[in-house]
Amino acid sequence: MRLENKVAIITGAASGIGKAAADLFVAEGARVVYSDIYDAPNDLTIDAEKAIYVKCDVSKRAEVAALIQKTLEKFSALDIMVNNAGVGTVGSILEASDEVWDKTIGVNLSGTFYGVQLAAQVMKEKGIKGSIINLSSILGTVGLPGTVAYCASKGGIVQLTHAAALDLAAHGIRINAIAPGFIMTNMTKGMLNNDSFSKLVKGNTPLGYVGVPDDIAYAALYLASDESKYVTGTILHVDGGWTAR
Ligand SMILES: NC(=O)c1ccc[n+]([C@@H]2O[C@H](COP(=O)([O-])OP(=O)(O)OC[C@H]3O[C@@H](n4cnc5c(N)ncnc54)[C@H](O)[C@@H]3O)[C@@H](O)[C@H]2O)c1
Repeated sequence: MRLENKVAIITGAASGIGKAAADLFVAEGARVVYSDIYDAPNDLTIDAEKAIYVKCDVSKRAEVAALIQKTLEKFSALDIMVNNAGVGTVGSILEASDEVWDKTIGVNLSGTFYGVQLAAQVMKEKGIKGSIINLSSILGTVGLPGTVAYCASKGGIVQLTHAAALDLAAHGIRINAIAPGFIMTNMTKGMLNNDSFSKLVKGNTPLGYVGVPDDIAYAALYLASDESKYVTGTILHVDGGWTAR
């Protein structure tokens, strides 16, 4: 088991990539806190012996602090923090409203900032050589028309990850980001079920197809485990080759 004796929090774990990673972490021996914005997602089944569900809106610092507190109360440690919760929004630079901008930056970038900072403070205080994993995107390094706020939020996560890796290295805390290409989830299924958009995505993906949540969950597993103990400040692209072009 690759995560034996580790305690992990995964935000946005009610569906998609977060749920796939949380389920995989449990299967690999971790005790896992599934977290999401809902009171209690009714279609979420978790292994009650190894996992709990905690409601948390990551765009609110106090809720992220409470999530970490509840994790410490239940499992007495925090080894892995996966800042996965996110929203997909649309709007070009000519049209995006302040509302879309604030929501996207609030959840995707500020939510990641709170998760990184509060988890790192606990890890430092407790002397835990933890692993923090952020969810960026291929759209953190390349643009896509009509998604200015999303691209800005994911680009911010890339640089947050680089800078924080330098700040945290002295404490033995690692931080990396995953930059997925297009993965079929609730966030993308509307777009990907559109024939012309699906064609555009496949045409820009050298491997020629859309990924599944487990493609990202296995990358998270590697970064969470001690197998990646010499890896920090990395942006791991899992994108079928999109950014190799
Ligand atoms: N699916 C893709 O193609 C893709 C590509 C690149 C990056 N990502 C990133 O991967 C992450 C997971 O996305 P997904 O594709 O699994 O989508 P998803 O919609 O299935 O999952 C996102 C989860 O985040 C939760 N969430 C939204 N706002 C929240 C908030 N304020 N607080 C707490 N939870 C909140 C949602 O309820 C949902 O369960 C996101 O950060 C997304 O930007 C996804």
